[in-house]
Amino acid sequence: MPSYKPHIPRIVDPDGVDTSIEPRAMGLTTDETRAAMVKQTGGDPMVDFEGTSNPYIDYQSIDLLLSLQHPRSPGYDEMSFFVMGQVKELLFRGLHFELVNAQMQIRQDEVGNALQILHRADAFVGYIADSWDVLTTITSEGFNEFRDHLSTASGQLSFMYRHVEFVLGNKSRGLADAHRNVPHVWPAILEALESPSLYDDVIALLARRGMAIDDEALDRDWSEPYAPNPSVEAAWREIYETTTANDEIHRLGEALVSLDQQFSIYRWRHFTSVERIIGYKPGTGGSSGVGWLEHVTKHHFFPELWAIAN
Ligand code: HEM
Repeated sequence: MPSYKPHIPRIVDPDGVDTSIEPRAMGLTTDETRAAMVKQTGGDPMVDFEGTSNPYIDYQSIDLLLSLQHPRSPGYDEMSFFVMGQVKELLFRGLHFELVNAQMQIRQDEVGNALQILHRADAFVGYIADSWDVLTTITSEGFNEFRDHLSTASGQLSFMYRHVEFVLGNKSRGLADAHRNVPHVWPAILEALESPSLYDDVIALLARRGMAIDDEALDRDWSEPYAPNPSVEAAWREIYETTTANDEIHRLGEALVSLDQQFSIYRWRHFTSVERIIGYKPGTGGSSGVGWLEHVTKHHFFPELWAIAN
């Protein structure tokens, strides 16, 4: 990108922003009130609002959200990096919400609901992977203009991303511990680390559906990363060999492997983008950088579902 000090347009006067994180008071509208309103406005958009805000700003605290972009360097590319970082955190949150709810539906044997939810989770991961379309427009020299201002900040310290990895079963006490000193984040990370993952609940479902699953796959130290289990592989192989794609457990297997594949694509795009931007320089988070990212591209959350293809 051009190397000149960017102009950052002032969009919101910070003095006017309600900085509370609580939801703002809002009324409700109904089909009836909307029909009455359109009669009043003659079909034109509403433009008169009382007070010092409007419903769109208040519904998602948009003025607060759009007051949180603070690039720290004179580097032109930092604003796109900053915004995409926040966008990805929101997408990780949206994905995590879907995964946790899919897990709850599986616990209640509501596989149909879980399949619907996993379809959206899959779309979220695809969208997160596509966020690299913007990030790969950041060149090495553009990144170097602001990299020092990241200090030791790294996506590796993303607690929202860690929640996504943990609900999918890729547990790491070491990476969880990075948040031990953050009192408003640590309890939830610790609980996620020490709780069964979505896949642990899928395996419990297979057992409830009569598959012969080893005890050590049904009850284990949930804080340990998931390791492949022969009885789980045998169960999936039997399901794939004896049921059609209409069977809901067969379809659950397909939904999980699709999600896993999308995640590999996201990790791969991160790895290749970072290789292009920083080469094999160490990461800001203290890891070997690209070497570390390459390593995680090989991880599968649901290894048996890949093994049965062999
Ligand atoms: C475009 C510039 C980027 C570069 C050069 C980059 C580089 C890296 C590197 C080297 C690592 C390994 C850990 C470390 O030592 O820091 C890493 C990890 C990570 N980065 Fe990025 N990153 C970039 C953008 C982003 C953005 C915008 C996000 C969004 C939140 C992100 C999310 C992550 C996550 C979640 C990890 C941990 C991966 C894992 O634990 O498997 N990265 N990144």
